[in-house]
Amino acid sequence: MAADHAGFALKEQLKKRIIEAGHSVADVGTHSAEPSDYPDTAYPAACMVAEGQSDRGILVCGTGAGMAITANRLPAVRAVVCFSAEIACLARTHNDANVLCLPARFVDAEIAWQIVQVFLTEPFEGGRHLRRIEKIDRNTPCE
Ligand code: RB5
Repeated sequence: MAADHAGFALKEQLKKRIIEAGHSVADVGTHSAEPSDYPDTAYPAACMVAEGQSDRGILVCGTGAGMAITANRLPAVRAVVCFSAEIACLARTHNDANVLCLPARFVDAEIAWQIVQVFLTEPFEGGRHLRRIEKIDRNTPCE
């Protein structure tokens, strides 16, 4: 997990519930509500997913946008901003998303917890969706 100052409080609430649900959590910070810069925590958390040390990343900032932009720089990371459990479900089943970015200023804690539960449990569907995510890594869009 990772957060900046805008996501810190929600990260702490979600971390407690995720641990209670039986998952182990590596928290790379931030560890207070003091102003901080989202790439400072997004990169180390996303690296843990890219390098296979973590199955999933959960990154929280004000909009989710900065976290997602940063995390998606890393190969093998598929980061999505989710506002609803339905989007989280589709991001898992269709996109095999492995990093969830939450907009702390735009979702309440209960919705965020529903999103996280779906994100941690819903399997990837494979099939035609596998072909599509393979193209993300194979294609070089600007050539
Ligand atoms: C911090 O004010 C805010 O810009 C940050 O949390 C995030 O929303 C950036 O994408």
